[in-house]
Parts: sequence; structure tokens; C-alpha cells
Amino acid sequence: MSGHVAAIIAAAGSGVRFGADIPKALIQLGNRTLIEHAVAAISPAVDQVIVTAPASHLSQFQSLLGDAVTVVVGGQTRSESVRAGLAAVSSDTQYVLIHDAARALATTDLTSRVLSALKNGEVAVIPGVPQVDTVKSVDANGYVTITPNRADLSNIQTPQGFELSALKKAHASNGEGTDDAALVESAGFKVLVIAGEECAIKITTPADLATAYNFLGANKEFLTGVGVDSHAFEVGRELWLGCINWPGEIGVAGHSDGDVAAHAICDSLFAATGLGDLGSNFGVDRPEYAGASGAKLLAETLSIITSAGFAISNVSVQVIGNRPKLAGRRKEAITALSAALNGAPVSLLATTTDGLGLTGEGKGIAAIASALVFKVSTNDR
Ligand code: CTP
Ligand code: MG
Repeated sequence: MSGHVAAIIAAAGSGVRFGADIPKALIQLGNRTLIEHAVAAISPAVDQVIVTAPASHLSQFQSLLGDAVTVVVGGQTRSESVRAGLAAVSSDTQYVLIHDAARALATTDLTSRVLSALKNGEVAVIPGVPQVDTVKSVDANGYVTITPNRADLSNIQTPQGFELSALKKAHASNGEGTDDAALVESAGFKVLVIAGEECAIKITTPADLATAYNFLGANKEFLTGVGVDSHAFEVGRELWLGCINWPGEIGVAGHSDGDVAAHAICDSLFAATGLGDLGSNFGVDRPEYAGASGAKLLAETLSIITSAGFAISNVSVQVIGNRPKLAGRRKEAITALSAALNGAPVSLLATTTDGLGLTGEGKGIAAIASALVFKVSTNDR
């Protein structure tokens, strides 16, 4: 026997329950997409990686994943997609792992443990974690038919590992199942459950993505940064602060829209990541940023730090000035700032300075921000 291992990552779903306008596997989690996370975690343990993609996005998947990964068009259902993947498995394969892109944070260690159980002679090996809720079977009229003993129940995850010959037999009659083990069980094979992982949750909804984001942030190297900005009032300009417009307020002088809250946050992010500052990234020598909105600069800053492998944990900003009075529109500004940072948590405070200094004398407005970021490395997940 060759011992060769192929992995098929099912990623051809559209993610209806997630509700994005792109396939779920292309959703960003930290510094890369769900499918990139899944491929990065499984690749070190296998000889061949096959990804099933939606026909509409085939070339996007291929260019994202590179030539070392075989990308094939998936089917109408997950089981059909797995069969499309099976058709691309190389002929010397002995073991096959079936994984879901939706379980983006399953680790290389989990893959290795599934494989070693297979290499110890098991035909089918699947990860599972204990069931915490009580589960009931309910009939069409809403009445409970049975309550299985919770202690006997396990929540099943992927990657699921099989002897290729057994999986092929299980799929031979083109059956449908919500996982592959269900078909392998029906074909009469013994399926072993090993310990799964808390972080291998299936990302189905945006709330799951937030949970996954927390797992991604766990045990990370965190870095903080501080940013400050101030602008003098200039009669005749409109005021932008916290990515929202303030009709009736005096605006400020500046190369851009003068949004001190947005600028302070940008600088805090550059400070935390060591990637320069506002001036070096968007300064007067970059005419394309003349008059740029705070939201645009935040989005550009996010893109710069994301490309360098950083993700935002949170940012907080305090505006210093006599006016405008922030309290009534604080929520609105927080929402706008957060939206510009792709949903990162933002807090916004305001203070005056007891009549002292530039802001106290009512000559201008300032802001101080701090950011907490973490480095998303390829192996440390
Ligand atoms: N999948 C697939 N082919 C399909 C359907 C699903 O390859 N025809 C993949 C999905 O891309 C996902 C995995 O199977 O990685 C598990 O499916 P699920 O989490 O249900 O994802 P979606 O089907 O995309 O989501 P939804 O059911 O909400 O539409
Ligand atoms: Mg589905």
C-alpha cells in the first residue's frame, strides 16, 4: 500500500445561511479567506489537496490557492461535490480526508490525529466533541418522539478520514448525507470517533464568524499603538468627525477632510504594526489622497495592515474639544468608524480640557486613539 493521502476540501456551497454575496469559502477571517485557512491547515499533513469550488468562481479559487492545489467544480449538493473531488484523487492514493472549508480553523494537529488512526488500521475516523445541549427527535406535528441519552451523543466535525476504497464504495450509489461518515456507516463500515477541536466549529452564520475570530485571536502576539491628531477650525469648511458629517458645525483646515478621530485611529494602527504613519502612507506627496475622507483612509489603512498579516482586536478613540457635542451621535459615529474598518470593534469617547490649550480655547479639535492588533501567522493558529 502506498500510504498516499489526498484531502478533498468541500468549498462549493454558496453560503445561503451566511447571507453574503460571495461564496462562503471566500469570506475573510483575519488575514485570509476561509478556504485559504483550511488549505493551509490541512496541506502539511497530506500529499494532494483538491478543492471543490462553485463553477462561477473557479478561476478565482485557483489563483487564490496556487498551482499546488487542484480546484474542481463542485456539485449541487455537498455529497455531489465530494464525488467531484473523488474523481480527481491520484491513482496511488490510499487514504482520503474530506474536509469542509466552513471549518476553517481545524488545525493541522487534528488532521494528523485522524491520519494516524487510519494508519493504525481504522477504516473510517471522524472527529467529534461532546454534545452540550439535550437533543430531541421531533415529529412533523412538533411532538417529541425520543430523547437520546446526551452522554452517547457527539457533535461531528471534519476532516473525516477514510480508506479510499471504503469511501468510494460508500459513494458508489450516489447517496446523499450531511457528512461522508453517514454514507460509510450505511455501507457497513465501522466508524471511529476521536477527540475533535473546539476551534473546528462550522462557520454557518456571521455570528459563527465572530466566534471563529476569537479563536483566531487566542494565544496571539498582541501589539498596541497610540495615535494623535489635531486640526484648527477653519470657517467655511464642513466638519467631518468620526466618519460622519456635522451640519452647522465649523470645519477644520487640512489636506484631507480633517476627521481627527479617523486620523488618530489610522496612526494608532500604523503605530501598533510599525508600518509608518499617516504622513508616510498618505502624505501630501500622494495627491490621490487630497480631500480623502476619514472612512477612505481607515479602509486603506486596514488594507495595508491586513496585507502585512495583522488583524485588529479593537480600537478606541477619544475626541478632545469644546464642540461638537458627541453624546447624541456617538452610536452613529461608532457604527461609521467600525464599518470603515470592516466591522472591527470601536469605542469613542469625548472630553474637554477645562479651557486649556488649543482645544480648550476653542481653536480646534484633537483626538487620541489606541489600537490593539495581533499578528496572524500561517502556523500559529
Ligand atoms: N459544499 C459544497 N458543495 C455544495 C454544498 C456545500 O462543496 N453543493 C461545501 C460548503 O462549501 C461547505 C461545506 O460543504 O464548506 C459544508 O456546507 P455548509 O456549511 O452547509 O455550506 P453552504 O452549503 O455553503 O452553506 P448554506 O447551507 O448556508 O448554503
Ligand atoms: Mg449547505
